[in-house]
Amino acid sequence: MTKRISTILLTYGAILVVLLTAFAFNTISNEAPDTRQLNLNEDIETKVDSVLSLMHLNEKIGQLVQYSGKWNATGPSSSNGDQHKLDKLKKGEVGSMLNVTSVASIRETQKIVMEHSRLKIPLIFAYDVIHGYKTIFPIPLGETASWDLDVIKQSAAIAAKESAASGLNWTFAPMVDVSRDARWGRVMEGAGEDPYLNSVVGVARIKGFQGDDLSHIYTIAACAKHFAGYGFGEAGRDYNTVNIGDNELHNTILPPFKAAAKAGVATFMNSFNDIDGIPATGHKVLQRDILKGKWGWNGFVVSDWGSIGEMIAHGYAEDKKHAAQIAMNAGSDMDMESYAYEAYLEKLVEENKVDIAQIDEAVKRILRIKFELGLFDDPFKYCNEQREKEEIYTDEHLAIARDVAKKSIVLLKNENDVLPLSKSLKSIAVIGPLADDKDSPLGNWRGKGDYNSAVSLLEGVTSAVGTSTKINYAKGVDLTIPTLEPGKNQFLYPLKFNTTDNSGIAEAVAMAKKSDVVLLAIGENAYQTGEGRSQTNIGFLGLQNELLEAVYKVNKNIVIVLMNGRPMDLSRVSEISPAILECWHLGSESGNAIADVVFGDYNPSGKLPVSFPHHVGQEPLYYNQKNTGRPWSSKHVTYSGYRDAPKSALYPFGFGLSYTSFKYNNLNFDKTEIDKNGSIKVSVAVLNTGDRDGEEVVQLYIRDLVGSLVRPIKELKAFEKIMLKSGETKTVSFTIDAKMLQFYTANKKWEVEPGDFDIFIGGNSKDTLKSRITITE
Ligand code: NOJ
Repeated sequence: MTKRISTILLTYGAILVVLLTAFAFNTISNEAPDTRQLNLNEDIETKVDSVLSLMHLNEKIGQLVQYSGKWNATGPSSSNGDQHKLDKLKKGEVGSMLNVTSVASIRETQKIVMEHSRLKIPLIFAYDVIHGYKTIFPIPLGETASWDLDVIKQSAAIAAKESAASGLNWTFAPMVDVSRDARWGRVMEGAGEDPYLNSVVGVARIKGFQGDDLSHIYTIAACAKHFAGYGFGEAGRDYNTVNIGDNELHNTILPPFKAAAKAGVATFMNSFNDIDGIPATGHKVLQRDILKGKWGWNGFVVSDWGSIGEMIAHGYAEDKKHAAQIAMNAGSDMDMESYAYEAYLEKLVEENKVDIAQIDEAVKRILRIKFELGLFDDPFKYCNEQREKEEIYTDEHLAIARDVAKKSIVLLKNENDVLPLSKSLKSIAVIGPLADDKDSPLGNWRGKGDYNSAVSLLEGVTSAVGTSTKINYAKGVDLTIPTLEPGKNQFLYPLKFNTTDNSGIAEAVAMAKKSDVVLLAIGENAYQTGEGRSQTNIGFLGLQNELLEAVYKVNKNIVIVLMNGRPMDLSRVSEISPAILECWHLGSESGNAIADVVFGDYNPSGKLPVSFPHHVGQEPLYYNQKNTGRPWSSKHVTYSGYRDAPKSALYPFGFGLSYTSFKYNNLNFDKTEIDKNGSIKVSVAVLNTGDRDGEEVVQLYIRDLVGSLVRPIKELKAFEKIMLKSGETKTVSFTIDAKMLQFYTANKKWEVEPGDFDIFIGGNSKDTLKSRITITE
């Protein structure tokens, strides 16, 4: 039998030589030749079947097991030690490793399997490459603010290229969870509050990671996560219960996952939460009926870390054996760190509680991706020390990271055109706990980004101005009290905030006093957002408010440079500062990118992918709400709103200013009535009325006025980012058809319901031109 496997391996080895020769001269991943056909000719299904036919039950179950490497746990650590993992690897009873990084470690681990196991089925190596591997790009929420799908795809392609050069072949990204609650720490990891934006951004990321061909040495398998509902945890608390019905599930949560499946994402990850009483990991309707059934998707589903075992804590499984039974029957193919499948699947088959056909199916799904990645051709295909040295953190990648970062910045306020600053100002104060922070801009989930390796704001500004400009720097206050030792696992170190030491404020005030303008860098530490970082307070923690007020007393000319991973309460800063730049956690080139915008070398073009509230009490806050039966009245109290705060956002979804200004007019329809099979062309003229060239994101929203289910007051359905020279007008057109107007109706079908629809076009979700169309039967 071993002979048979080696024959298979030899055949695929030959294919590999062809592929490598073809790829040797390619340097950019999205230029990869499409060799998918080549693989398909060989018929992956036949190969998968022939490998499966050689496998014993223990080896099949082994393929469904994923372990974490030793130093890098990204969840509560397991009770099983390294010796156990080693023994299992030798027996060929492990399908995948996560958190094993570097060519040397990956090679060493793969070698164990190749040298000791009976069938030598290669491992697939996974890692959370969320916004860059070593060259760090803006956090996904920030990058989404670029509304630039090419740029987003490009950053994923570079992340894939660097990961693959380091031996990896699978990332746990993109997260396509719609997230509407600023309290939830993982808002930073997705594309914000809108299902359409999450869909198109998710697909761009998948295409970036996977390219046209998974077997290319520059591409890796992607993973759409967390299936499903993880972003809807009650009260913004991580891992919390999700109580949503079919309408929300199908119309809001599932569309990005469906788009990911359609785009051919190799894997899905399920999710920690329960949905209306059923833990997602044990959710048969979601995984078997919808994902693998209705959507016909043929990749594999990995559990989230320990989520099979966690069904016991949920009170859904009696013990681990029961949990394994539920998860396998529900369609969770691979067990990440629960140790449930390896312990109980064999017994469950014996007892007829799990059908062997389901195990075979799960194994086939996993083998298929391993074949597509080319791992059977060469298990060490991604292990190339030279590539690891030469293709990671290159000047070219850093230049692209700067470009992505500057495009992700959102100008929220710019009274009296405070910005851009002139490079020949006499003095600029650079103040704040994040002003010279070289680590926070890397954000959470920063792959292998080196501690303290980002360009700080201070560095960026200093290198942008000439010697005649005096830079007056003061930190003012520390945001946190150091608890995180560089290189240590950040999951084990909850942050502590500095709430007592204000000794640096006096110096900051002195610097502000003697400067023409203040750049005040405040916001959040990298580890304030991300997994497990839910907060009830979305304001400026520590002593940042005190610093702001003290500086404001002596210099009103404050530009707020926000660095953060979630929508924050900006009510006070927007009251007192003439200018606000939303700079997220922008990655390796943060300071340079911010300087590009501050001094006008780049005209900001970002738009918010999430609503920013007046107050945390408004959360969850999102533009695509339903109207309610009592929308609002200022004259009577019995309407839906708050008595102590506005109902709407302080900065709405889709909002962002430019150093120039745009005017929208001539909203034009080629017709205003169609039947369900028809289409309407709508166009709008956008004029750059300012004296600078600039980019604008033209956004189209709809409202279905009457539905068999209540529909949101606005829904983003299309957008286009355009460049306009000063004084230039461009006409932008969109096609409105059934595909755009349909929703998951009371009939439990995706369909268009005849009736009236409002169409809105504008530069954000609030300020739009509007007109009505009618759909007939
Ligand atoms: C738990 C997180 O929820 C998931 O997104 C991540 O990929 C895994 N841990 C592995 O680190």
